[in-house]
Amino acid sequence: MSLLEKIRVTQSFLESKGIQSPEFGLILGSGLGELAEEIDNAIVVDYADIPNWGQSTVVGHAGKLVYGELAGRKVLALQGRFHFYEGNPMETVTFPVRVMKALGCEGVLVTNAAGGIGYGPGTLMVINDHINLTGTNPLIGENLEEFGPRFPDMSDAYTKAYREVAHRVAEKQGIKLEDGVYIGVTGPTYETPAEIRAFKTMGADAVGMSTVPEVIVAAHSGMKVLGISAITNFAAGFQSELNHEEVVEVTTHIKEDFKGLVKAILEEL
Ligand code: HPA
Repeated sequence: MSLLEKIRVTQSFLESKGIQSPEFGLILGSGLGELAEEIDNAIVVDYADIPNWGQSTVVGHAGKLVYGELAGRKVLALQGRFHFYEGNPMETVTFPVRVMKALGCEGVLVTNAAGGIGYGPGTLMVINDHINLTGTNPLIGENLEEFGPRFPDMSDAYTKAYREVAHRVAEKQGIKLEDGVYIGVTGPTYETPAEIRAFKTMGADAVGMSTVPEVIVAAHSGMKVLGISAITNFAAGFQSELNHEEVVEVTTHIKEDFKGLVKAILEEL
């Protein structure tokens, strides 16, 4: 089956489950999936039941798709994403974004846990741009003309109007919200201190193992994007050690701010 055929099959399957014209896709990263529990009139579909869909293997990712209403908007939320480091091809990593577009989502909110380069644990950061350091690109291969051009412009991948709304809403809510550049790597190792020093020189404010592929595919198809990083640790070399337990632990502290912020943003988008 071609990629386009797979997208259509999955789209039809989800539509047959009652998932109709969502406005926004939400991709919820490590420890941030709880937001999906607040979705009203929810239709929940297990990843295992969705044709052509990947499987979630990471602790802190539930592996469910939840459709319904959040802050008065029709959202399609993913509790758990597919990472390149799990051995998934980029097509699988970005397939949910393709399907979101096919179902009619106008925008996507992409969230992640990230290491801070300058910013410390507990910080929420709007992504204003990224550096793709994964060594590959999810659009390599035949271009899906139905979705977008062969050589997509990435100048405004992180939609300016969405970023402005996010900052305005955060200020109104008294939530501190930073702004910065996300550098996307493959993982699964955390970085070396030398890599982090290099990334700092390159202009990165946060580093993580996701988001970049999904945002490339979203931007290709003209979707608007809001990216939010939850900084869970100082990146390598700026704290004594790094581990996934800490990442999940810190997100449990940030998530109340995070949930309030996202709901308020959705109301305004
Ligand atoms: N590096 C890469 N990915 C991450 C980190 C980090 O320090 N923290 C959370 N995700």
